[in-house]
Amino acid sequence: MSQAVQERIAFLTEELNKHNHLYYVESNPIISDFDFDMLLKELQDLEAKHPEYASELSPTKRVGGDITKKFQSVVHRYPMLSLSNSYSEEEIVEWEQRLKKLAEGPIEYVCELKYDGVAIGIRYENGKFSRAVTRGDGTQGEDVSANVKTIRSIPLTLKGNFAADFEIRGEIFFPRKNFEALNAQREELGEPMFANPRNTASGTLKSQDSKVVAERGLDCYLYGVYGDDLPFESHLESVNGVKEWGFKTPLEKDKYIHKTNSIEGIMEFIHFWDKERFNLPFDIDGIVIKVNNYEQQQDLGFTAKSPRWAIAYKFKAERVSTILEEVTYQVGRTGAITPVANLKPVLLGGTVVKRASLHNADQIEKLDLYLGDEVYVEKGGEIIPKIVGVNEAVRSNAAEKVNFIEYCPECNAQLHRRDGEAQHYCTNDLICPPQVKGRMEHFISRKAMNIDGLGAETIDLLYQKGLASSVADLYDLTFDQIVNLDRMADKSANNLMKGIQDSKTIPFERVLFALGIRFVGETVAKNLAAAFKHIDAIAKASYEELIAVDEIGEKIAIAVQQFFQDEKALATIERLKQAGLQFEIEEVELASNKLEGKTFVVSGVFSKFSRDEIKDLIEKNGGKNVGSISAKTSYVLAGENMGPAKLEKASSLGIAIISEDDFIGMIG
Ligand code: IVH
Repeated sequence: MSQAVQERIAFLTEELNKHNHLYYVESNPIISDFDFDMLLKELQDLEAKHPEYASELSPTKRVGGDITKKFQSVVHRYPMLSLSNSYSEEEIVEWEQRLKKLAEGPIEYVCELKYDGVAIGIRYENGKFSRAVTRGDGTQGEDVSANVKTIRSIPLTLKGNFAADFEIRGEIFFPRKNFEALNAQREELGEPMFANPRNTASGTLKSQDSKVVAERGLDCYLYGVYGDDLPFESHLESVNGVKEWGFKTPLEKDKYIHKTNSIEGIMEFIHFWDKERFNLPFDIDGIVIKVNNYEQQQDLGFTAKSPRWAIAYKFKAERVSTILEEVTYQVGRTGAITPVANLKPVLLGGTVVKRASLHNADQIEKLDLYLGDEVYVEKGGEIIPKIVGVNEAVRSNAAEKVNFIEYCPECNAQLHRRDGEAQHYCTNDLICPPQVKGRMEHFISRKAMNIDGLGAETIDLLYQKGLASSVADLYDLTFDQIVNLDRMADKSANNLMKGIQDSKTIPFERVLFALGIRFVGETVAKNLAAAFKHIDAIAKASYEELIAVDEIGEKIAIAVQQFFQDEKALATIERLKQAGLQFEIEEVELASNKLEGKTFVVSGVFSKFSRDEIKDLIEKNGGKNVGSISAKTSYVLAGENMGPAKLEKASSLGIAIISEDDFIGMIG
């Protein structure tokens, strides 16, 4: 039996690694996502039943879960230097001429993209991922292994004829698409948006919760190998060689890397990417040029901070000037006011720019803007172009200063700016149309109540006709009211009625998410529902009780309490209760409350009960199961063969480790 299990685990691991590589490195999947998920699920189940065979490098680890309270400092085996930067083509020409004098024989150069992300060094021992360390100060960095392991394009085990012990370096970055999706999600939750992919990649990599990293979709290109016994004689050979070991490296066919022996070849590469960079799926901030041959590299050596054999050419952020025609103000779902500069259309970085975000009142003040100003617009690391300056010399004396509005452009209510916040808000949330409609749109969205047949357009119509101005109104709609809306046929009206009806069975945690409480996203809603079971309990919960819940901190606790102090919110909830929505989770009948307030991590194999039976017993006696050990864990219930990493973690956090018999004693 156990051998069969072990073999199956090995088989699934190999299959999943293969498909992972095909999908994330080769961009050439050969099975469907569904089939992949089935294989993954099978492996997860097997590992849960037989934790003694679960490897630290299993593909199931890609979803994260490990928490790092404090990143360990690690001294780099090879110092992590930086490149000397140049901002003009002349500097590159001078560098190349200098090298010609210094080096022996003809020189080959390799041109590469300069990825705009965070440097990482990853050590592999005997074909296995062993440790990933950030650059830090170049001499020592931080061990961010748990987070890096969740990046799917980074192999956990190698294939082919790999070297026994080496370090590979590269750049971790946020692909633009994933970054935009993250910001869209934050906007929906009313959370502040991230400014640019690079800083967000860097922040994400330092996240304590590796699950967050796994969800965000970082990626990585690898550009250099270091080791005492490597089978390569040149840089390009190494980049192409380690690809065979499973690494994602820049490909010549994509023009991401190119060998040349002349300054003309280097310039051609620079000019090509200066234009094309805007069409890449990720940000680059320049080009790196390296001497290809390792022996020549060694002869050229280093200055104090950087190698002589490489140089970076940094792109200038493209800047154009245009006219500021008008400043308008957008009102978001949460009432946040965003000023927007409306510009005379101008070509920038390959796209026509008509608008630029001005962020907030302080930004307008800082720029000292007047209508009709000639402004400089730049597209730097940020996705949205920004105004970086004003040409005051050409400003007319009659120009009108831009003053931040005092009243909401949508509902005329007075705006407020909370202490310590940069954003102005319209707090007239019950009346202000974009807030009212935005709340309804969030409520019906797929991850919330998922009401079939209802979209933003219909919400708009319902609102305009005075049929719905609160989510509770949706449950009072009649077939006749709906069918009379523009472009609404019998069939779609029926669909909508059914969608509304069906939403009454949506579980409590999603109803809670749908209410649109500030900062309460899907996960927080799930944790709140699990912890308090009933909406009334959440409404009554004290600040201390709220922050005791997983992943709930000060900011969220305050937002939850504020929400439930709002009479109007309570009235809406009352109406939704009357309509029959789910406001509690299905209760398991409690055998006792002996374990109330206690959280358990159950691990290993037990002799009297199965693991699932034990977990059931914990819940039936009022306790709570959690997946990973944290400072909040009360007990680790350890069976046979519990992994050494977990044991170590539990004892380092001073958490009691109890046996099956201790547990039986606890519940009597
Ligand atoms: S090679 C000895 N190649 O730029 C330096 N670096 O200031 C070896 N970077 O810290 C670095 N793309 O984070 C190299 N293709 C590339 C790069 C690259 C981005 C970053 C890296 C490094 C910084 C250099």
